[in-house]
Amino acid sequence: MIILGIETSCDETSVALVQDGRRVLASHIASQIRIHQHWGGVVPELASRAHIKMLLPMIRELLDSQNMQVSDLDAIACTQGPGLVGALLIGLETAKSLAYVSGKPLIPVHHVAAHLYAPFLVSTDTACKVTMISPDDEAGTDTVHTAKGQTLAELADMPPLAYPYVGLAVSGGHTSLALVREPSKFELLAETVDDAAGEAFDKVAKLLELGYPGGPIVDRLARTEGTNGKRYDLPRPMMRRDQRDFSFSGLKTATSYLIRDLGGPEAVKADPQILGDVCASFQQAVVEVLLTKARRAMDTAGVKQLAIVGGVACNGGLRAGAARLLGRYSVVFPPPAFCTDNAAMVAGLAYHLRDEHVGKINLSLNAVASMPLPH
Ligand code: KG4
Ligand code: ZN
Repeated sequence: MIILGIETSCDETSVALVQDGRRVLASHIASQIRIHQHWGGVVPELASRAHIKMLLPMIRELLDSQNMQVSDLDAIACTQGPGLVGALLIGLETAKSLAYVSGKPLIPVHHVAAHLYAPFLVSTDTACKVTMISPDDEAGTDTVHTAKGQTLAELADMPPLAYPYVGLAVSGGHTSLALVREPSKFELLAETVDDAAGEAFDKVAKLLELGYPGGPIVDRLARTEGTNGKRYDLPRPMMRRDQRDFSFSGLKTATSYLIRDLGGPEAVKADPQILGDVCASFQQAVVEVLLTKARRAMDTAGVKQLAIVGGVACNGGLRAGAARLLGRYSVVFPPPAFCTDNAAMVAGLAYHLRDEHVGKINLSLNAVASMPLPH
């Protein structure tokens, strides 16, 4: 069974073809980073416009890459929410139209549930293609590279993931811990009461005037040789055992005071050691909070498996920190190409929802900005 996935919840336009819920035949991602960079964050209106421009040509190219037609598909899946409503609507209406004209089932998918499914995807490197959209390029794109997926051989080296497991979803819009009982059956264990982890990375990078999105930049600076993540004492918020939820806004404020006390962003950036140490100290605080709460959640749920997903799961400090948990627990990360927003996770999860949607196309389906995880 081959499902077309469509993901447009934020600032990546992505389409993918996934066979039987796991094998990624092709995954194409058009990143809008260069459009939003100029504004220091995602501008919803510009995101919607870029999705409109990119989506149909990308679906055509994706199908062509596999010598397929819409008629060869078994179903069409798309992200229904949570996300930016205007952006979601582009993907949802396109999916509805394709389903309507082709008579294929339409399968709406929860974005965070799809992230939590990403560890099950396998692909060849060449199946994953990432394009950077340029704001002033009529053709729409200017850089193309392939991203590394997870191959079957690599999967054999990883600890197997079986239900139930604890999922830590960490991205620019979400920070949630959930017990994953089945592909689409969750028990929410904790979530952020203010900023998401990725948002905190992005805001700290903004305070340091480093660029957007901040996560990869802070990660790279924190990993520079000789940096010391213990140099600056930053808070680990909400760490009492009875506080299951996350909070990152206090950490962000403490980091802003630290930068001010060090003489401001220019002074910090003038000294590579100080810059690296500020980034490493901030990153270490985030990683410690995420992993401590994930470990406690596993203990409470009596589960020994953890999957860490979402854009922040690309973070080197988080991956290194999680490796220290190994032994007592089994920790799985999707490869970076399936951590940040992608449609392969949408098509993969949709395979497990197909029975609910046989022969159905709900043409009144709407995009939802904020929706709880299915339980
Ligand atoms: O999952 P994602 O692509 O989109 C959302 O659903 O939000 O996540 C994007 C977020 C951004 O906040 C970005 O800064 C963060 O993931 N991110 C990282 C890293 N790579 C991406 N954060 C920390 N370290 C990274 N290496
Ligand atoms: Zn996401």
